[in-house]
This record gives sequence, C-alpha cells and structure tokens, in this order.
Amino acid sequence: MKIAVIGAGNMGGATALGLAAAFPDARICCTARHASTLEKFSARGLQTSLDNLAAAREAEIVILGVKPWLAQGVLQQLRPALSGKILISLVAGIPADEMRGWLAGSGLSGAYTVIPNLAIEYRESMTFIHELSGTPETLRTVRMLFDATGRSAVVDEKRLNAGMMLASCGTAFALRYVRAAAEGGVELGLYPREAIEAALQTVKGAAVLLEARGTHPEAEIDRVTTPGGITIKGLNAMEEAGFTAAVIAGLKAWSPKK
Ligand SMILES: NC(=O)c1ccc[n+]([C@@H]2O[C@H](COP(=O)([O-])OP(=O)(O)OC[C@H]3O[C@@H](n4cnc5c(N)ncnc54)[C@H](OP(=O)(O)O)[C@@H]3O)[C@@H](O)[C@H]2O)c1
Repeated sequence: MKIAVIGAGNMGGATALGLAAAFPDARICCTARHASTLEKFSARGLQTSLDNLAAAREAEIVILGVKPWLAQGVLQQLRPALSGKILISLVAGIPADEMRGWLAGSGLSGAYTVIPNLAIEYRESMTFIHELSGTPETLRTVRMLFDATGRSAVVDEKRLNAGMMLASCGTAFALRYVRAAAEGGVELGLYPREAIEAALQTVKGAAVLLEARGTHPEAEIDRVTTPGGITIKGLNAMEEAGFTAAVIAGLKAWSPKK
C-alpha cells in the first residue's frame, strides 16, 4: 500500500505515524512546506518530500492534511496525480458540496472527508468518515485504514460535524476535564504530577469499565453513589455549577456553514 500524506502537521503527521504503526509494510510519504517539519518522519523510517505532486503521483491513497484555507489550492496542484486514486481529506469544516465541486473531473476512484483525532498516532482514534464519492471497495479500503488506527464510523454530513465536535474537538474537551480534575486534586493536597496521573488513570479506567460492561454511564454512577454519600454530593455540586450544560454548550458552539 502506497500512501502520501500531503501536509504532515499535527493531524496529518499523527495519521501518518498511526498508519505506519498499523501497516508496517506500507510505503508512506509525508510532505510539508518546511524540511524541518519532515525530520521526525524520516527519523521514524517514513519517506518525506517537499514536492506534493511527486509524492501524490507515487501513491495509491492521498491524504490531505493542510489547513482549510489552503485545501483548494493544494488540491488544484495535486489534480494531475489524482486519477484512479483514493483521496482522504482530513480538512474539517468544508461542506461536502464544496469539496465535490473542487474535485469534479479529477477522476478519483473515491473521495472521503475523514475526521480522526490526535490519538490516531497511538491507534486509539475515534474517526468519522463521510463519503463524497466512491464505491463499496474504496469505502472498504478507507474503513480498513481507520479501523486499524482506532475505531471508525461512516456517517452522513450532518453527523460528521457532530462526530467532529464529540471526538476530534472532544479530545481537547476531555483533556480540559483532566486538567480541571488535577487542579482540584492539587487544591485537596495532591502533588501536581500525582493529581494528573490520578485524573488520567481514572478517566481511562472509567472508559474501560463502561466498555467492558456495555452499560449506560448513569448505571455505573448509581453503583458508586451511596445515598447521602460524598460522590452524590460532588456530582450535585458539579451540576449546580453547570457541568452537563457546559459540556453540551461546548459541543454546540460551532455550527457549520449550512
Ligand atoms: N488538529 C486536529 O486535531 C484536527 C482534527 C481534525 C481535523 N483537522 C484538520 O487537519 C488539517 C490540518 O490541521 P493541523 O492542526 O494538523 O495543522 P498544522 O499542524 O498546521 O499542519 C498543517 C501542515 O500542512 C503543511 N503545509 C502547509 N502548506 C503546505 C503545502 N502547500 N504543501 C504541503 N504541506 C503544506 C504545514 O507544513 P509546515 O509545518 O512545514 O509549515 C503543516 O505541517 C486542518 O484542515 C484541520 O481542519 C485537524
């Protein structure tokens, strides 16, 4: 499998490294604007290039990881190399119709908007896939890539935006909870390093517990809330401060152009 990652920054780079871990035999070539960006990829045994078109020509799958405002221009540059290939755009926030317009006549065998999160580097992403065009076979290939680097879900455009808020921006939201919990832990007397370790392991443990038991979060919460006990007092104090409302407001803070 030959993959070109055009724009190997935070997201493109994490995707390249996750795919390299999942598919050791794949030939993955990363591009960027500056040679310095690419050093960490060559150090990890990936190929690198400053020539987007040459990298795309060599690939069967082209992954676009540039910033949204650069996407149209870079796609225009890649156009002569796209025929018969699969394009995976990591670019968030571009309406599907606009992407289809940019790609019209390019001869791609399949085009997908794919929103992973940064945990893809460690093969723990939750990745949402929206098909712009393609066949059952190209979709199978794309799912195979993102199931091997975490979990994937194929969704319509509306749910892609919801998934992006929940799982991609959601990484930052979850980390902000960890930071808040750690700050509280320090106020209660833990050392900062202890508090972060405790907050992280607790979030990880809660996720493992819920997944293993297949239950609703509230069912597990019921198991740890002794009537009149400290857990329910803590939960109620958090709700009084607007915890659930704040999370939902954060998820709804961005609305797509259409
Ligand atoms: N970060 C996330 O969690 C996340 C999540 C989902 C989707 N996304 C999407 O991912 C895309 C990239 O975001 P990011 O946060 O990864 O940005 P980033 O870290 O700035 O990465 C963008 C990369 O593109 C490279 N680049 C710029 N112009 C280029 C060109 N003409 N040809 C080739 N490479 C070029 C840059 O190279 P240099 O470093 O050499 O300048 C940089 O490495 C965005 O469209 C965003 O919507 C990001």
